[in-house]
Amino acid sequence: MCGIIGYLGEREATPILMESLKRLEYRGYDSAGVAVIETGAGDRRTSVTKSEAKVDLLIAKLRENMPTGHLGIGHTRWATHGKPTIVNAHPHTDCHGRISVVHNGIIENFAELKAELEAAGHEFTSETDTEVVPHLIEQYYKGDFLAAVRQALQRIRGAYALAMFTLDDPELLIGARLNAPLVVGIGEGEYFVASDITAIIPYTKKVLILGEGETAAVTPLGAEVSTLDGLPVEAKVIMLKEIHETSEAAANAFRGRMTDDGHVNFIEFAISDDHLRQYDEVRLLGMGTSLHAAMVGEYVIEDWAGLRARAEDASEFRYRRPTVDAKTLTVVITQSGETADTIVGLHQAKERGSLTLAITNVVASTAARDADGALYLHSGPEIGVASTKTFVAHLVSQYLLALRLAAVHGRVSLERREELARSLRELPDQIREVLDGTTEIARLAHRYSRFHNFMFVGRGINHAVALEGALKLKEISYLHAEGSSGGELKHGPIALLDADFPVVAVCTASPTREKMASTVHEIVARDAPVLALVSAGDHSLDGIVADRLEIPAADEAPSAVLSTVALQLFAYHVANELGRDVDQPRNLAKSVTVE
Ligand code: AGP
Repeated sequence: MCGIIGYLGEREATPILMESLKRLEYRGYDSAGVAVIETGAGDRRTSVTKSEAKVDLLIAKLRENMPTGHLGIGHTRWATHGKPTIVNAHPHTDCHGRISVVHNGIIENFAELKAELEAAGHEFTSETDTEVVPHLIEQYYKGDFLAAVRQALQRIRGAYALAMFTLDDPELLIGARLNAPLVVGIGEGEYFVASDITAIIPYTKKVLILGEGETAAVTPLGAEVSTLDGLPVEAKVIMLKEIHETSEAAANAFRGRMTDDGHVNFIEFAISDDHLRQYDEVRLLGMGTSLHAAMVGEYVIEDWAGLRARAEDASEFRYRRPTVDAKTLTVVITQSGETADTIVGLHQAKERGSLTLAITNVVASTAARDADGALYLHSGPEIGVASTKTFVAHLVSQYLLALRLAAVHGRVSLERREELARSLRELPDQIREVLDGTTEIARLAHRYSRFHNFMFVGRGINHAVALEGALKLKEISYLHAEGSSGGELKHGPIALLDADFPVVAVCTASPTREKMASTVHEIVARDAPVLALVSAGDHSLDGIVADRLEIPAADEAPSAVLSTVALQLFAYHVANELGRDVDQPRNLAKSVTVE
C-alpha cells in the first residue's frame, strides 16, 4: 500500500503535498517523493525531490529547497518491487522527464511491458513496476495527454491508483484507478486527487469517488470523469460529505426547540402537556437504520420518562395484531417518509386509535402528511443511500421527545434536565472532534479491511449503536457484519469468533460499561482481535484489546451519537479501501417504497 496525492490550484502546491503526505504516511513510509511543475520567466521545468526514508526526511529536503508551482504530485511508499532507495522512490518519469507519475498498487504485467518498451528504445532507471506507466504513456503520447493515458492504461493489468501530469500542460492533473482507491477533492479554486479523503480533509469535504477503471481529468475548470474508452461518467457526491454534515444535522435537530434548562417545545407538533400525559406507552416503528434509531428512542424514553416504550420492525408490526390503542403514542421513524413498511404500520396504528407522530427529514412526505403530527429533522437532503446524518438527527429528535415526556410525567429533576440540555448543546462540537479524528479511523479501517467477518457488540443504548455499526459496514463494504448485545454474545454468536473474526466493541462510559469490559475479556479469550470504542481518558482496556478508538467523553445518550459517527467513518473507510461504490451500494435503494 502506498499513499498518493495530486494538487492543482491557486495555492503553492508543495506545502499542500507535504501536509497531505504526512496524513497518508499510515499507508507506508519506506520512501517518499514529490514532483512539481515550476514555471519561471519563459521557463518551465519539473522539480523532483525524493527521500529514501520517511516523509519527514522529504519535508526537510523540501524546506531547504522549496519548489514553487501550482501543479504537483506526491507519494509515500510501501515497497513492493524494488528496495526503498532514492532511485525506486516515486514519482517516476519517462525517458525525457516530461511525464511524472505516482502509483499505488501493483502492475502485474509490468515485466512484459518493460521488455516491450525497452525493445522500443525506452531506458528504465528503477526496479519498480510503476516505471512502465510513464514510459507506456510516452509511447502513445502524440500531443493529447489524456488520450495517451487511456491507451496506456488499457494495456495494464493489476491494481493502480495513479496521479500524473506532463510538463507540456501545467493545468492538467490526471487521476486514474483500478482495484485501488482514489478520490478527487474539489475545493475553492483548487483540486486534489488522493488515495483517500484523510489526505485532503483539511482542504475540502467535497469529494468525488472514482469508480473502477475511471479517469479524472482535472483542470482549473473542473474535474471530468470518464472511462478508459472516453465515455463520460456522472461524478458522484459521496456519503462522506454527509457524514461531515452530521454536526450541523445534530444542531439543526434541537435548534429552536430546547431552552438552556432543557424545556422542549415542538412548534410543529403543538400538543399540550395534559394531552401528552394521556399516553402511557410509546411505540416506535422503523426499518433498517431507522429501526436502530427507534431502539435508541425506546431506551431513552424508558430511562428518562419512565414510560413503557417499544421499538418495532414496522414490517413485522403490520402482520401482527398490534396492541396499540388510544393510550399509545406511535412514533414513526423514517428519513424519507415514504418507506412502505413503515407507512402501513403508521396507518394500522392510526386505525387502532393511536396518536401518531412522524419524525422525518422530508417535508410533506407521506408519513408527514398521514400522521397526526410531524417533526422534521432539518438535515438537508440525504443523497447517499446509506443513512448517516439523518440517523444522528433522529437520535437527537428522540432525545428531545424523551425530555419532553420526562418533564410532562415529572420524571426528571430540573438539574438533570439542565445537564442533559447542556450535553446535547455540546454535541455538535464533539461530533466535529470525532470527524477531526478521521485519520486515525482511516488507519484502523486500513488495518481491518483485510478481514471478511465482523462482530459489533454493545450493551444498553449501545446495543443499537452496535447494530447500526454492523449495518453500515455490511451495506457499503459487502463484508459480513453482525451486531449483538454484549450479553447475548455468549449465548451463541461467540462460537463464530477466532483470530480472523474481529469484534468492534462499544465500551464508552455507560451504566453497563463494566459488563462490557467483562464481555471484552470473554472475546479476547477466544483470540478475536478487538477494536474497542472507549471514552477519552479510559485506559482500562489497554493491553487487552488490539486497538482502541477514543470517543470524546460525554453523557450516555450523546455518546451513542459520537460512537455512531465514528462507526460510520470506519465503514466508509473500509468500503473505500475495498473500492466499493459507497454512494450507491449494490442491491439497495434510498427509499424502499415496496413491501
Ligand atoms: C440505511 O443506511 C438504509 N438506507 C436503510 O436501512 C433505511 O434506513 C431504511 O430503508 C428506512 O428508510 P427510511 O428511514 O427512509 O424510512
